[in-house]
Amino acid sequence: MKLSIFVALALSPLFANAFRGSQPVIKESIRSAPLGWTPTGRAPADYVLSLKLALAQSKFADLESHLREASDPAHPNYGAHLSKEEVHAFLTPEADTLDIVHEWLSSHGVGAESMSKSAAGDWVTLQVPVELAEQMFDTQFHAYVHEASGDTAVRTTSYSLPSILHPHIDLVQPTTMYARTQPARITYRYSGGLVYSAEGDNGTITGPAGNALDQSCSYQITPTCLKQLYNAEGYIPSNTSGNAIGITGYIEQYANYEDLQTFYKSQNPAAAGSNFTFVSVNGGKNIQDPANASTEANLDVQYALGMTYPTPGTFWSTAGEPPFIPDEFAPSNVNTPWADWADYILNQTDVPQTISTSYGDSEETVPFSYADRVCKSFAALGARGVSLLFGSGDGGVGLLYSAMNQTCHRNNGSDAPAFLPMFPSSCPYVTSVGATIGIPEAAANFSGGGFSNYWGRPSYQQSHVDSYLSELGDKYAGMYNASGRAYPDVSAQGVNYLVYIAGQPHNVSGTSAATPAFAAIVSMLNDARLRAGKSSLGFLNPILYGNASVALNDVTEGNNPGCATPGFNATKGWDPVTGLGTPNFEKLKDVVMSS
Ligand SMILES: *[C@@H]1O[C@H](CO)[C@@H](O)[C@H](O)[C@H]1NC(C)=O
Ligand SMILES: *[C@@H]1O[C@H](CO)[C@@H](O)[C@H](O)[C@H]1NC(C)=O
Ligand SMILES: *[C@@H]1O[C@H](CO)[C@@H](O)[C@H](O)[C@H]1NC(C)=O
Ligand SMILES: *[C@@H]1O[C@H](CO)[C@@H](O)[C@H](O)[C@H]1NC(C)=O
Ligand SMILES: *[C@@H]1O[C@H](CO)[C@@H](O)[C@H](O)[C@H]1NC(C)=O
Ligand SMILES: *[C@@H]1O[C@H](CO)[C@@H](O)[C@H](O)[C@H]1NC(C)=O
Ligand SMILES: *[C@@H]1O[C@H](CO)[C@@H](O)[C@H](O)[C@H]1NC(C)=O
Ligand SMILES: *[C@@H]1O[C@H](CO)[C@@H](O)[C@H](O)[C@H]1NC(C)=O
Ligand SMILES: *[C@@H]1O[C@H](CO)[C@@H](O)[C@H](O)[C@H]1NC(C)=O
Ligand SMILES: *[C@@H]1O[C@H](CO)[C@@H](O)[C@H](O)[C@H]1NC(C)=O
Ligand SMILES: *[C@@H]1O[C@H](CO)[C@@H](O)[C@H](O)[C@H]1NC(C)=O
Ligand SMILES: *[C@@H]1O[C@H](CO)[C@@H](O)[C@H](O)[C@H]1NC(C)=O
Repeated sequence: MKLSIFVALALSPLFANAFRGSQPVIKESIRSAPLGWTPTGRAPADYVLSLKLALAQSKFADLESHLREASDPAHPNYGAHLSKEEVHAFLTPEADTLDIVHEWLSSHGVGAESMSKSAAGDWVTLQVPVELAEQMFDTQFHAYVHEASGDTAVRTTSYSLPSILHPHIDLVQPTTMYARTQPARITYRYSGGLVYSAEGDNGTITGPAGNALDQSCSYQITPTCLKQLYNAEGYIPSNTSGNAIGITGYIEQYANYEDLQTFYKSQNPAAAGSNFTFVSVNGGKNIQDPANASTEANLDVQYALGMTYPTPGTFWSTAGEPPFIPDEFAPSNVNTPWADWADYILNQTDVPQTISTSYGDSEETVPFSYADRVCKSFAALGARGVSLLFGSGDGGVGLLYSAMNQTCHRNNGSDAPAFLPMFPSSCPYVTSVGATIGIPEAAANFSGGGFSNYWGRPSYQQSHVDSYLSELGDKYAGMYNASGRAYPDVSAQGVNYLVYIAGQPHNVSGTSAATPAFAAIVSMLNDARLRAGKSSLGFLNPILYGNASVALNDVTEGNNPGCATPGFNATKGWDPVTGLGTPNFEKLKDVVMSS
């Protein structure tokens, strides 16, 4: 990411002695590093940390009310999206916040050469040695190792700021953040779980919209199957409507150009020769050696683009999570990839109207302060008119499918069994996508779903979720947060996607697969609106839970086991396994075209 140099402000006499009398007060602390992370010793004093400070955004409430109006089809301001400059104006901190933070940094000798700021000025990134950071934040940094992966990181469990700064700085990270961004994809393969649908022997079966589908769609998903199944067959997007689709990539996942061509030749010959645009964010790499072609990135690109051709596509590769090498004194990367990506995108004038992300973190490993700022950036993107879709995770009500038989506990010292929600799906300003299997569709048993411990239930989903909970009764009481933002919002097929990787066809499953598929449907809806001179859809959830809920196929079979429980059931109406259901494109188009 290109960061401009923080502008040195004149020293303000107002704060000249402010810090001397202001005691350090703990800003954030956690009981201990999350399970699996072990401290290996003090961090070297001269190891250079790259730390991000989030400055208070005083006008977020105004941005939020704008977003609420622009995404409510019943409001006169529906679709009145904001420009980059307008959104930045809402995010920019107050002048006194900038003054006092700069004054404090100067008091520690942190000059312009060791800091940069985001375009809206709401994030400041510092390069400071451990020794100085320990003074500034009244803490000690240690090196930690993550046993399962061998990942290492320099972190702490608590940090402080002078009390006078508390209202001005929301967070400093990575300090107490141990999140490990994961692709929402299951590595386990279904064996024999999928069979030919029993219906008919003439090579076709009937989909939820009543049209005929290739019988092979019951065990092998392709872009053709998805367009048939979701009633979008025959819809060809325009490549001149200004519509575009974006796919994010994290943790060194590489989308391979050659594999995309192989996939096109096999699955969508008309698209052969077309391409996506690669954009590196914060030094994200683009390795094209077939040995490095990534399952996740290939899946996402092949489906988001394979279904929406000739819609222009962008793939962003955002760097993060480098290994900590104790004897290398180069600055460590920031390891705040969600914020880095969001800041980059918010500083673009033209942003694709639909963006698919198949990665997530355990909510509790992302400190609330950081998760909340990222979630607000997603709200800001919604206000720009962007629809953001995230996979709901592949561990059912837990985190990992492979650990479904293990009791889950929160990392808060409690022995009480608890389900573990996923971020960013738990953020109320994104659309979370769960997974289904087979035709007719049932919930895929890995489909992530549950309730946030960070954000309360947004009004748009209140009545739908209340209905589900009143049927659930006191089952699992105490294991999930009954007042939390509930997810997923919607779902799509998530099993046995045909994906080309290093030249070979593979079956790939996960909410990772469902997400680009649902995003492709949303992108075609945006295309239809733009062609008719309407605005893009922007933040989707209010319309999904409103008039569009009847344009989704309700999924009522299956459940999502995890944490040594059978999980939740898919039921009539919304449920925390398949959300409101899977798309019926033609019906959704009718709803969005009359809004
Ligand atoms: C934001 O975008 C503008 C225009 O492209 C660019 O000049 C500036 O450097 C960007 N700012 C940051 C912090 O990336
Ligand atoms: C639903 O659609 C009807 C007519 O199509 C419209 O009058 C009403 O305002 C819509 N409701 C919402 C919540 O968008
Ligand atoms: C999940 O579903 C797959 C495919 O139907 C099946 O093979 C597997 O045994 C199921 N797992 C559990 C725990 O039910
Ligand atoms: C195929 O067979 C099924 C069941 O026999 C029937 O409902 C369907 O209409 C047939 N499809 C076609 C395309 O003939
Ligand atoms: C749009 O698609 C048509 C084929 O459908 C192609 O001939 C044309 O070059 C494309 N234009 C752009 C700007 O991509
Ligand atoms: C896609 O773009 C990349 C990077 O510009 C290029 O190397 C590759 O050849 C392109 N593929 C096609 C089919 O145009
Ligand atoms: C690319 O793949 C090779 C072989 O698996 C591996 O050794 C190398 O580290 C990978 N490179 C990157 C940048 O991931
Ligand atoms: C969970 O336990 C059941 C019953 O003991 C077993 O069949 C299944 O394979 C286990 N699943 C996993 C993922 O370990
Ligand atoms: C820890 O988590 C459990 C399970 O969700 C919850 O009941 C308890 O209130 C939490 N404790 C604290 C201190 O947050
Ligand atoms: C439940 O969620 C609310 C937000 O809706 C949060 O304030 C509360 O701390 C959560 N409870 C637990 C035990 O995490
Ligand atoms: C995917 O799995 C289905 C069902 O087992 C099988 O028929 C198909 O050949 C598999 N596809 C690939 C590419 O392995
Ligand atoms: C799910 O449905 C089964 C079968 O109807 C029922 O026994 C079970 O209690 C339900 N579980 C939940 C969590 O609703």
